Amino acid sequence: MRIHIKNPQVLTYADGAFAAEQKDLYIDGERIAAVGEAPQGFVPDKVIDGKDRLVMPGLMNLHTHHYMSLFRNIANDVPFHAWLFDNMMPREDKLSEEDCYWGTLLSIMEQIRTGTTCFNDMYVICDAAAKAARDAGCRAYLGRGLVGDDTGDGGRLQAALEEMDRFAGDPLLTFTLSPHAPYTCSGGYLKRVAEAARKKDVLLHYHLQESAGEVQGIKEQHGVTPIVHADGLGLFDQPIILAHCAKAEPADMPYLAKPCVSVVTNPASNMKLGNGFAPVPQMLKAGVNVCLGTDGPASNNALNLFRDMTLFALIHKGVTEEPTELSAVTALRSVTVNAAKAVGRAHELGQIAPGYLADLAILDLNAPELLPHNDIVSSLVYSAYGTEVETVLIHGKIVMEDRHFTTIDEERVRFEIKKRTGIFG
Ligand code: NI
Repeated sequence: MRIHIKNPQVLTYADGAFAAEQKDLYIDGERIAAVGEAPQGFVPDKVIDGKDRLVMPGLMNLHTHHYMSLFRNIANDVPFHAWLFDNMMPREDKLSEEDCYWGTLLSIMEQIRTGTTCFNDMYVICDAAAKAARDAGCRAYLGRGLVGDDTGDGGRLQAALEEMDRFAGDPLLTFTLSPHAPYTCSGGYLKRVAEAARKKDVLLHYHLQESAGEVQGIKEQHGVTPIVHADGLGLFDQPIILAHCAKAEPADMPYLAKPCVSVVTNPASNMKLGNGFAPVPQMLKAGVNVCLGTDGPASNNALNLFRDMTLFALIHKGVTEEPTELSAVTALRSVTVNAAKAVGRAHELGQIAPGYLADLAILDLNAPELLPHNDIVSSLVYSAYGTEVETVLIHGKIVMEDRHFTTIDEERVRFEIKKRTGIFG
């Protein structure tokens, strides 16, 4: 399909800075064909009126557990250990494939509504996650949460590798290998997973240094922080996305700054579970590629990156009493260009430019909280709620138009979710 977005403000990126300018946007198939002048002979199948609208890159949420929307607002205000081991893990064992499918679809609805076009998910049932993303037309990075020790993992790694092959060739789906955490995976097992990721040429996605208890446990066992321990196992010598690092210490910074490593900070989830939040200003000074995630909807308890961008930009200023610590531009980069770099696709995701994939959010610039238009990047980070998002394209396809989903049967999702209310409570 050929789409012409007429007269919008377009948010482009160059040399570390964003700029919004009135330009026409031309989409041909899954990619952006031109920004500004129409390509020769371009005849659109559809024209979108962009007057008083902003077209921005779709946001990328680099750490989620989408199936967990079924557990939203269960076990709040409890400590991390009790939340995970006493409340979440026993409930996960009860989930059917259908439960996970509808839970994931609800999460995708919520994120599309707030402009997110790509998510990096650690799932429990592959077919549920992959089919929900495919049915919704949403870009997804998917990895089965792997748990194992030196003696084995009950076939989980083998199953994860087979799942990748089963969904191979889908342009929206990319698989990762996702060992859960240092306290659920032994060193020997992590080496096996890393070796498999190397052979398969896929990303690793791993929860690391999330809580004080985890740091204490690994230090007692190995005498080093979980970050240093993971590097010693060779995990940082291949592309890896580290969720959290909320308890990263100053001596950990050079390890996190390694070229294959990206960190996803999840400040809402970390704070809600009493784990503090990552020392991002120090990470940025050390040259770490920092991205932003919501984490699962059971620990956030929403999947709205606009909300979390605001939080992310504010908390460091609040703690350090230094308002220059983390700028709006840095916050916006964390969900666009940095995220694209983390998944190895800076050449085709996270920006609006010819040849890039058309993963786009179109926002209503007449929303009162965005007026006047003094500084668009600050508006997006400090003022926007995400409710300004009207239309979303993923891979060149309109998945939401004027706030109506084109790929998801909203009523059906609501029905299926309501039907399950209370079963897991
Ligand atoms: Ni997580």
